[in-house]
Amino acid sequence: MIPMVDLKRQYVQIKDEVLKVINQVFESSRYVLGPHVQAFERALTEFHGVSDAVGVASGTDALNLALKAIGIKRDDEVITTPFTFFATVEAILYQGARPVFVDIEPETYNINAELIESAITPRTKAILVVHLFGHPADMPRIMEIARKLNLYVIEDCAQAFGATINGRPVGTFGEIGCFSFYPSKNLGACGDGGAVITAKPELAERVRMLRNHGSRGSYIHESIGLNSRLDELQAAVLNIKLKHIRRYNEERRKRAFYYNQRLSGLVKCPVEKQGYHHVYHQYTISSPRRDRIKEHLNSKEIGAVVYYPLPLHLQKALEFLGYSEGDMPVAERVSSEVLSLPMFPELTEEEQNIVCDSIEEALKNG
Ligand SMILES: Cc1ncc(COP(=O)(O)O)c(C=O)c1O
Repeated sequence: MIPMVDLKRQYVQIKDEVLKVINQVFESSRYVLGPHVQAFERALTEFHGVSDAVGVASGTDALNLALKAIGIKRDDEVITTPFTFFATVEAILYQGARPVFVDIEPETYNINAELIESAITPRTKAILVVHLFGHPADMPRIMEIARKLNLYVIEDCAQAFGATINGRPVGTFGEIGCFSFYPSKNLGACGDGGAVITAKPELAERVRMLRNHGSRGSYIHESIGLNSRLDELQAAVLNIKLKHIRRYNEERRKRAFYYNQRLSGLVKCPVEKQGYHHVYHQYTISSPRRDRIKEHLNSKEIGAVVYYPLPLHLQKALEFLGYSEGDMPVAERVSSEVLSLPMFPELTEEEQNIVCDSIEEALKNG
């Protein structure tokens, strides 16, 4: 059996350290917004070279709070991609705003910057960019458009911790970068967790207030906020893992290059644009015979999952937005051809060989 992700293999390497800090948290009995959260927020600012980071309860809340902090409200429009996890668009809808989808690039599966301008209306307030699977979106071009048209840019970096463009980390291009520390993410906690980063202290202050019921303390409330705080146990574990994140990402990259070598004649392998540093949260191949490959791998207990089988504009929950089939042709084709393979820093070459041999078999026999 070869899983998509095996978190246990990472845990055993850092077990002593993790158990020690967990014990410290229990001994101190400070569970919410204590010294571990403060240390983690500081480490995040240093890692990204920004002034502020704010720990929150999940990646979904990071997006929610970021959009609320920049003032997105009812009937505003926010441009985003139809090819992402549902949470991206939920965050827009939670504000009462309307998501406006723009089709994706056929190579990176990220929002196609060249199509953004045609989707702008007088109600457009922001662009919510997603760095899908760990490959950064075209931030230089997106920022150029946003500056010209006076739009906010929020980055959904849930799948791309540590990815860069010409050395600059994702999350530092727009007004706010949003992260998820869901356990299977490149930087994963032992439960839910998230954070926002920003170079604008006034936005950080707003998120800090909003994550705590719209209050700066003492039961005085300036806004309607949320209970969305990162807890001490998660922060303590994240502090340990953050020290290793560059190595974890490098190990993912090595495995991606090995897959590329073995699979490039058989299926379409992920691309990495020049100057872009992909962190392979997912290693995602594409083939018109995707279903056959998936079925064969799964029958051999090899992990292979479709992220995502239905673009968001065609989801039942979003029917009321009025999109229909054919509106986002690239996202629609891509969702019928992509397949993500097992990918994690501790995946062995032997396991990768089994995955690749099985793909070969599927294509020969199918
Ligand atoms: C692109 C993207 N955005 C947002 C989220 C939401 O993060 P969370 O699960 O921490 O709420 C995820 C992951 O789950 C994601 O992959």
